[in-house]
Amino acid sequence: MANKSIIPILTAFLALLLISTQATTNPGVRLRITDKGLQYVDSIAVQLLDEKIKTASIPDITGDADTPVGHVSYSLSSIHFNSFSIPSSAFKTDPGVGLQLQISGASTSLSGNWHYREDHWPHISGGGSFDLDVSSLTLSISMKLGADSTGHPTIAAASCSSSIGDVNIHFHGGASWLYNLFDSYIDKKIKETLQDKLCEETSDLINNNAEKELSTFPVKKQINKYAVINYSLVSNPNFTDSYADVFIKGEFQSPTAPKEAPFSPASLPPESESVKMVYVWVTDYLLNTAGLVFQDAGVLNETVTPSRLPPNFSYPLNTNTFKLIIPKLYQMYPNRPMKLVAYSTQRPKVSTTSAGVDLSITGQVESYVQLENGSFVYTFTMGLNISALAKVAVRENNITGHVDTVKVGVSLIKSAIGDITIDMKLLQFVLDAFADKIIVKQLNEIGDIGFPLPVVNGIQVINAQVMPGQNFNLIATDVKYSPTTNAALEKTPQGNNKIVIV
Ligand SMILES: *[C@@H]1O[C@H](CO)[C@@H](O)[C@H](O)[C@H]1NC(C)=O
Ligand SMILES: *[C@@H]1O[C@H](CO)[C@@H](O)[C@H](O)[C@H]1NC(C)=O
Ligand SMILES: *[C@@H]1O[C@H](CO)[C@@H](O)[C@H](O)[C@H]1NC(C)=O
Ligand SMILES: *[C@@H]1O[C@H](CO)[C@@H](O)[C@H](O)[C@H]1NC(C)=O
Ligand SMILES: *[C@@H]1O[C@H](CO)[C@@H](O)[C@H](O)[C@H]1NC(C)=O
Ligand SMILES: *[C@@H]1O[C@H](CO)[C@@H](O)[C@H](O)[C@H]1NC(C)=O
Ligand SMILES: *[C@@H]1O[C@H](CO)[C@@H](O)[C@H](O)[C@H]1NC(C)=O
Repeated sequence: MANKSIIPILTAFLALLLISTQATTNPGVRLRITDKGLQYVDSIAVQLLDEKIKTASIPDITGDADTPVGHVSYSLSSIHFNSFSIPSSAFKTDPGVGLQLQISGASTSLSGNWHYREDHWPHISGGGSFDLDVSSLTLSISMKLGADSTGHPTIAAASCSSSIGDVNIHFHGGASWLYNLFDSYIDKKIKETLQDKLCEETSDLINNNAEKELSTFPVKKQINKYAVINYSLVSNPNFTDSYADVFIKGEFQSPTAPKEAPFSPASLPPESESVKMVYVWVTDYLLNTAGLVFQDAGVLNETVTPSRLPPNFSYPLNTNTFKLIIPKLYQMYPNRPMKLVAYSTQRPKVSTTSAGVDLSITGQVESYVQLENGSFVYTFTMGLNISALAKVAVRENNITGHVDTVKVGVSLIKSAIGDITIDMKLLQFVLDAFADKIIVKQLNEIGDIGFPLPVVNGIQVINAQVMPGQNFNLIATDVKYSPTTNAALEKTPQGNNKIVIV
């Protein structure tokens, strides 16, 4: 009976564990936009706002008032912006809330037509054009950034306020009493109209244009037929007083059978970087899920035949090469071509420290000898441990990896040609040559292509630097942005993610 009572307790405990792990899920990728990055966004936002406002239409202003010519109805129509100038603006974090755009000292000039008509007989009327100068214009708008249920980033204008200092009007062809009418009635209406217009246009820029650009954030990025990257946001971004952090799942997944990796990202140090516009922490978790997905897909294998070796390779794939290393193999099959079937037996593992990136691959190699009649006969299996030192870099918008040195450990696992003795020292020579000419080359063919950074369309990474840290590589970079009209179509390249383990 003791068992029975313990089960609910265990279940409750497990549920608690699940909740607490969920609440503290570390991101696989953390993306930070610094003050410098926001300043850059500011320059783009202000330029877009300027273009947008200049083409905005302004509603007619109408009313009626007592004037020296009697009670009149008046209207200002066809009002349009001639110029808009924003000499000073700031795009900043609003700690704990979101972002804030502040504009001050802006000025604008507008033109339009004026018209009035006396309400009673003799219905005196008049009209002409007018010019309007507005100065000391301010705007402050805050925006909320978040993540929707599908992990897409969202942005929405929250509160907006605008004020206008001085408004000067010049009525062409107008009587002087018009200025009194303006001072006592129209001035206030124009200010209200303009303030509303500024907030409306800015909100629209955020709610539509910015939202549309953000919608190109690649929450799911196809890498090849074996893998997609999950770049979903795992929580709302965090806004401190000097940067905004975006927390991204950062996990490779199988497109056909996605599942959670049985390991999780290590927590990242807070740090306070600010020299570059953007910082991206790429955790070992992300790289390790790539290894997991490719291992599970069974694609980390390679068959090495004599023709796959470089033409002038010093160790031909022939039993002659093994004459001294495995004498028995040569005795049984003298001067016969060989074939090696190599595959990884565990997911490749990445482990980064400030000293660099270690990559380790564990696999096996099956050796076959080709007979006179063309068929292959299995001879033995070796176990291999490969450890490599790699460097993470950024090329165009891709995170890439490059292996410089490789060390190979070897052991005999089984033999189909009876007891064999292997001269391990001699074998190591051959393996080192293989490692240098085949393994490094193959690893780098995959690594140099890399995979894309989580950025919206139109962003170009420039002057990126990569620094290894404890369980992560930190990419520090500036960016350049060119607004895109339509999201580029996702291409699905056919992957050739093979590694040779010989
Ligand atoms: C991506 O990761 C998020 C967060 O763990 C998860 O909710 C979502 O289902 C994943 N997306 C896919 C396509 O698996
Ligand atoms: C969010 O920012 C605050 C500072 O404003 C910081 O104390 C907190 O640790 C941050 N949270 C995360 C998850 O980074
Ligand atoms: C080896 O990888 C290829 C894809 O590169 C795959 O089609 C094949 O099934 C794999 N073979 C084994 C024995 O896992
Ligand atoms: C082998 O040939 C390649 C090109 O065919 C050449 O780059 C390389 O230097 C040669 N290696 C040796 C050891 O001769
Ligand atoms: C080739 O020869 C071997 C050994 O003599 C034999 O077992 C095998 O069946 C032969 N294969 C073919 C395709 O004839
Ligand atoms: C490879 O490493 C594993 C674990 O470190 C070890 O158990 C195994 O014996 C090694 N194999 C070889 C061939 O060195
Ligand atoms: C970036 O990575 C993707 C996915 O692996 C690849 O298709 C693309 O060619 C890479 N781009 C560059 C410039 O290497």
